[in-house]
Amino acid sequence: MNNRKLRYGVIGAGSNAERKHLNNYMNLPNVELVSICDVNLENAKRLAEKYNINNVYSNYEEMITTENLDLVSVCTPNYLHAEISIYALLKGVNVHCEKPLAVNAIEAKKIVEAKNKAGKKVMVGLNNRFTNEAVYLKKYIDEGFLGEIYHAKAGWIRRSGIPGRGTWFTNKDCAGGGVMIDLGVHYLDLALYLMGMPEPSYVTGAAYNNFDHTTTRNRNGYQGNPNGIFNVEDSALGFIGLKNGATVNFEFSWASNIEKDKQYVEILGTKGGVSLINGELKIHSELLDTCVDISPILNPNIKLMNEFEHFTNSILSGEPLMAPAEHGVYTMDIIDRFYQAANRNEPVFFEKEDKNKILLLSSSF
Ligand SMILES: NC(=O)c1ccc[n+]([C@@H]2O[C@H](COP(=O)([O-])OP(=O)(O)OC[C@H]3O[C@@H](n4cnc5c(N)ncnc54)[C@H](O)[C@@H]3O)[C@@H](O)[C@H]2O)c1
Repeated sequence: MNNRKLRYGVIGAGSNAERKHLNNYMNLPNVELVSICDVNLENAKRLAEKYNINNVYSNYEEMITTENLDLVSVCTPNYLHAEISIYALLKGVNVHCEKPLAVNAIEAKKIVEAKNKAGKKVMVGLNNRFTNEAVYLKKYIDEGFLGEIYHAKAGWIRRSGIPGRGTWFTNKDCAGGGVMIDLGVHYLDLALYLMGMPEPSYVTGAAYNNFDHTTTRNRNGYQGNPNGIFNVEDSALGFIGLKNGATVNFEFSWASNIEKDKQYVEILGTKGGVSLINGELKIHSELLDTCVDISPILNPNIKLMNEFEHFTNSILSGEPLMAPAEHGVYTMDIIDRFYQAANRNEPVFFEKEDKNKILLLSSSF
C-alpha cells in the first residue's frame, strides 16, 4: 500500500470540489486523480479536462464499483453526504466528506457506524481547523496557557453573503438548514474544538429568515435563482451551556444590516485569552501587572498542517485524524438541538446519558 499511489475520485463536481479538493489532491505525489462524478455531466467533464482525469461518471455507485478507489471526496449538496459516504465506505473506500458531515446527527451517526463496520476512515472537510492560526492556537491552548477556559465566542456574520438565494443552499430539503449548517458548522466547530470538545448541557437560540425576499444580498460571485426556494434561516444566534460550567455564544448570518463582515473565534480563560478575528491571531494576557496583547508571527510560507496530506497520511500510516467523523456527529447534535430550541423558543437540554459521549470517548478514529 505504501509504495503505490492512492486511487482518488471526487463526487460532486461543483465549486468546492474544484477550488478545494482537486486543487489540493492534485499536488500530492502519492495520489492519482482517477475519476470524477456529477449528475450534471457537463460539470464533471469540465473539471475532468482541467485536471486531466480520464474517467467521468454521472452515477457515483457505478464509479465506486468500477474504479477500485482508495478514497473519494464527497462534495455534493449536504443531503447526499450520508447516502454517498455510507455507500463508499461499505465498498471499502475511505471518505473525505465535506462539511456538514450530514444534515443531522442521526445521519451523521450512520456514517460513523458504516465507517466502523468497514474499518475505513472518514474525515470531515473542516478546513478552518487546518489553518496555521488554528493549529498554533490548538497547541497553545492544549499547553494550558489560558488557565481554565470559561467562555468562547464564535461568529461569522455577513452583510450580503447568501450563497445563491434560491439554490440548494437555501432549500431545507437539500441543505438541512441555513447559515447555521453552512457557516456555523465551521466556526462553532472551531470554538468547541479549541476548547477540547466539552460535553454540552443545553442549547438555546433563535433563527431568523429576514432576507428571503431580497435579490440584493447574494454573496459576490454567487448566482441566485429568483424562482427557487428559500425556507431556511439567514441568521442564527445562540448560547450553549457546557457540563464543565463553561459557555459559548455564537452569531452567524448570511445577510444582516451591519457595517462590516466578521469571522471570529475568541476563547476566554482565567490566565489568558485568544482571539482570531478575520484571520488575525492575538493572545491577551497580563505581564508585570499590566495587560498585554501578543501577536504571534506565523510564517505564511510554512504550512503547519495540510488537510489533504494529513488525510492520505492517516490512510497510509494510521495516524489519528484531526477532524474525524465523530466530531461531525458532536457538532450536528448541537446544531440539531439549536434548531429545536429556536423552533420551541426555549432551551433544549441534552439527555443525561448521551450516546455521543460514547462516540467521543472512542479513540479509534
Ligand atoms: N469547506 C468549505 O469551506 C466549503 C466551502 C463551500 C462548500 N462546501 C461544501 O461542499 C459541498 C458542495 O458545495 P459546492 O459549493 O461545491 O456546491 P455546488 O452546487 O457548486 O456543487 C455541488 C455539485 O454536486 C453535484 N451533484 C448533485 N447531486 C449529485 C449526485 N447525486 N451525484 C453526483 N453529483 C451530484 C451538482 O450537480 C453540483 O455540480 C457542500 O456540502 C458544501 O457545504 C464546503
